[in-house]
Amino acid sequence: MKRLSIFVSGNGTNLQRIAEYFANNPEVEIANVVCNNPKAYSIERAKNLGIPLRMVTKQDFNSEVFVAEMQSLDIDLIVLAGFLWKLPEGLVKAFPKRIVNIHPALLPKYGGKGFYGEHVHEAVVAAKEPFSGITVHYVNELYDSGEIILQAHVALDEKETPDSLAAKIHSLEQAYFPVAIEYVLRSQN
Ligand code: GRF
Repeated sequence: MKRLSIFVSGNGTNLQRIAEYFANNPEVEIANVVCNNPKAYSIERAKNLGIPLRMVTKQDFNSEVFVAEMQSLDIDLIVLAGFLWKLPEGLVKAFPKRIVNIHPALLPKYGGKGFYGEHVHEAVVAAKEPFSGITVHYVNELYDSGEIILQAHVALDEKETPDSLAAKIHSLEQAYFPVAIEYVLRSQN
């Protein structure tokens, strides 16, 4: 049995998709959802999906107690699905090559501090990039800089706007993030 922990901060469309994708897979279960934002719709989604919810404060999240708690859950893969806090070094070190993140652009461009959500699409459209896409990557102690696992591309139209690009990127996330997670789980010993 492979156990996932999904870290969220927002709407949770990736959480929803991942839960639905693995719903009929007896080998994969979502052990918990970790959320840092009391206003996140992800909280409703976790409740509706019947997945245990662990809310964290900044103090919690940066404590060794939280790392020990995560280790006690026998998690095979931590999945950052729109989680906006940088991971504490202790957590990253405790889960080597067992933390993945999705970024709504083609890293290494348009990544790093401040590049999240709409800000990414605004920058890509402003730069008149011919393509954008998603990047699923392993997480290390820096922002958006771990080994890349999967990238999917989409062309920008002449009249692309940040909103229209966001919709295209969202479709790529829904299609490929669960597949990338499944690939990583299969590649673990
Ligand atoms: C997605 O755009 C993802 O690429 C980024 O944060 C957003 C999460 O959206 N990391 P949701 O909360 O899963 O709907």
